[in-house]
Amino acid sequence: MYIPIVFFSASNNTKYIAQLVAQGVEFEGLTPVHVPIEELANYSDIVEQAPLIAVGAPIHGGFAEPIYRWLRAYDFTGKQVYLFSTAAFLFFGSSVEAARIVTKNGGNVAGILEVRFQAPGDGIYLLNRMRERYPLPTEALKRAFELGRTMAVAASSAVSTEHKQIYFSHRKRLAALSSLWVVKLIKRAALFIAKRCLFRFDPKKCTACGACEKTCPSGAVHAKSKQSSAKIPISLGLCIVCLRCFKACPTAALYLIGKERSAYYQGPWQLHGYLDPAEAKTRFGRSKRDGAFCFTRQHCRMSHSSVPQRHHTKDEMPKA
Ligand SMILES: Cc1cc2nc3c(=O)[nH]c(=O)nc-3n(C[C@H](O)[C@H](O)[C@H](O)COP(=O)(O)O)c2cc1C
Ligand code: SF4
Ligand code: SF4
Repeated sequence: MYIPIVFFSASNNTKYIAQLVAQGVEFEGLTPVHVPIEELANYSDIVEQAPLIAVGAPIHGGFAEPIYRWLRAYDFTGKQVYLFSTAAFLFFGSSVEAARIVTKNGGNVAGILEVRFQAPGDGIYLLNRMRERYPLPTEALKRAFELGRTMAVAASSAVSTEHKQIYFSHRKRLAALSSLWVVKLIKRAALFIAKRCLFRFDPKKCTACGACEKTCPSGAVHAKSKQSSAKIPISLGLCIVCLRCFKACPTAALYLIGKERSAYYQGPWQLHGYLDPAEAKTRFGRSKRDGAFCFTRQHCRMSHSSVPQRHHTKDEMPKA
């Protein structure tokens, strides 16, 4: 049975979590399918037929726009949906907001995972030197692995299709707040300002090659003709912060504040750590407070002292 993991990831944090979820699925003997949201059309049959799917997004004020757009449009009837997200600081009740959309569209949200990456993604937002200062959130990585396992076990045991509204009492107010139009407006404005502060353009380096424009999935870049001002040639309202134009620019005329081009993600993505399945036996239970499966410390308030803190390095990964 296939378990699709649909995700969006600009700087690979969410992709990293998606890979751990996949490891958990594989550990229980099922086949995970990575579905970057940009390639969804290639996997539509698999997603349609799957009784269970995982959906992951970085937090850009809320779930990143490409995932939100899809959640709003997709019919989840009969599906168990597991949501995961990564953020640097604040989730703003986004998981509950996303869960509401899935439920409205017929799905049953069976699990939620939020991973706070103080360590940076490969491309953006926090500086590389912070990677050394902040270790990867090992506990949360383990929970991502467990999320995959839980999904696989639920799929194998013909999970009930009855709809059960996930209910986070302590997050309800926050989520209710997020659905107010005035809060949405503030989030939009904050996102716009974030882009304005992060994106930089050096017209002297721009050769008007058009690579950035060609690669943009939202038609947000207009840099085909030679630019004379340092005004960034991107319509910020349209931009979904996928970072493709920044990675595609051959002269680093487009760059992100505080980042050298060499620091951007370049090669094929690989997991930096590997969670040994033998170390990951603990299964997380139901939260007493919510009665729903959940995987984060904030939600569950369970003791994770038994969780091993160590994860393996890439070199230690078992050879195939
Ligand atoms: C435009 C933009 C907006 C962001 N907004 C938030 C936010 O509201 N809250 C937060 O905690 N992190 C925010 N972040 C940080 C990302 O959520 C975080 O780095 C995430 O792990 C990136 O995931 P990715 O590597 O999969 O793209 C933002 C990042 C970007 C680029
Ligand atoms: S402008 Fe750049 S970062 Fe924004 S959507 Fe287009 S390619 Fe992605
Ligand atoms: S890819 Fe870089 S050099 Fe080419 S048009 Fe865009 S900004 Fe200019």
